[in-house]
Amino acid sequence: MSAPTIFDPFAPDTDQHSGGAFHGQSIVSGDYGYAVTDYETAGKVLRDKRFRNSALRLMEEIGITDGPVHDFRERSIIMIEGKPHLHLRSPLARWMGPARVKKIQDVLRGIIDEIADELDDTAPIDVHDTVARRIPSMVYCYLAGAPMSDAPKVQSISERTLSLLTRDRTVADTVRGAYVEQWEYLDDLIARKRAAGLGEDMLSYLIQQGDEGKLTEEEVVTEATSMLEASSVNTAHQASLVVWALLREPEAWQRIVADPGLIPDAVTEVLRLYPRTGMISKIATEDIEVGEVTIPAGSDVHIAVWSANRDPERFENPDVFDLDRERNVPLTFSSGPHNCLGQALATAEIAEVVGMLARRYPEATIVESETSVGQAGGRWLIDKLTLNLRG
Ligand code: HEM
Repeated sequence: MSAPTIFDPFAPDTDQHSGGAFHGQSIVSGDYGYAVTDYETAGKVLRDKRFRNSALRLMEEIGITDGPVHDFRERSIIMIEGKPHLHLRSPLARWMGPARVKKIQDVLRGIIDEIADELDDTAPIDVHDTVARRIPSMVYCYLAGAPMSDAPKVQSISERTLSLLTRDRTVADTVRGAYVEQWEYLDDLIARKRAAGLGEDMLSYLIQQGDEGKLTEEEVVTEATSMLEASSVNTAHQASLVVWALLREPEAWQRIVADPGLIPDAVTEVLRLYPRTGMISKIATEDIEVGEVTIPAGSDVHIAVWSANRDPERFENPDVFDLDRERNVPLTFSSGPHNCLGQALATAEIAEVVGMLARRYPEATIVESETSVGQAGGRWLIDKLTLNLRG
């Protein structure tokens, strides 16, 4: 496993650095463009609308330079700014407010308990595959008002769509195919919902917004697509990273088992130390002064979240897991106008996974030889998390 503070987004041979700076500098440049490594500047860049998300460039880099998938990405919520962005963001933000997430809590517990009931706990088991990867697509089905039997399809579509994040050119056809399948699936789901009558779910809400002329038909599908693709992969990896990190902190784990009220703070602390989104990549739309550096228009700018989250100027003893840390606001869900719309939901999902393990399997241990955790392409990821659930 790589050292947790490794800096470079895409090259495995880059020197290590201390959190918050690379060779003493908070803004550095290289073949990859620019990287921002300290907490304060990272937050400023994330909140500055002159930096646009680089998801479209990522797509172009793997060879998707035109066609419907490229055009979708260009128009999607993450890529647009100003009024058009608010036009797409507001309906989702309204629907996904804190009250809704609170309402979903019982459903989450039900989904996770159902998965837990099926676990064979008599032998070591890969909890990433059997638990974490399955939950987000089931939650999406609930949100979208789709039958739970659609969950494996949703999981497969979203994982293939986001294989884009590997930055590997060989996945272009997989990504194209996954989007086409996704749109066919959503068109069919919308038709099924219309036939059965609209309900209280998110997709029904979006369809109603369309019927009232607040969204075009295309925007309804765009919104549903953005939520589907964003909902699964990051949450699955982050949930496993949280479980992995907490089981490696026996004292903290015992405190959590004794007092589940500590789970939200524990989740936040792991989000800080092991952020799935270790890098958030943007593009400068004009020449922009950041500190003492002028970043030229068109440059790639990578916000090194895994460095900023360990900035000693912001977090005391930044490499230490501290369940009692105060003012703990990691940048894992970004900041500013594009901050993650699903953060409350993702955090609640992860907290429920931890809660289930703490309740049912307080003695669980990691089988290190069958666990694989690492970093690639600016992300923390977990391929396998094998646990002895009964210790
Ligand atoms: C642990 C899991 C997750 C992580 C780490 C994560 C991280 C992020 C980050 C870093 C961004 C902002 C990128 C930027 O500033 O350019 C973002 C945006 C977004 N996320 Fe998440 N996310 C997670 C889960 C979810 C879930 C569960 C959903 C929906 C159900 C979701 C929906 C979205 C949407 C729609 C946006 C775009 C917001 C906009 O552009 O206005 N995310 N996410």
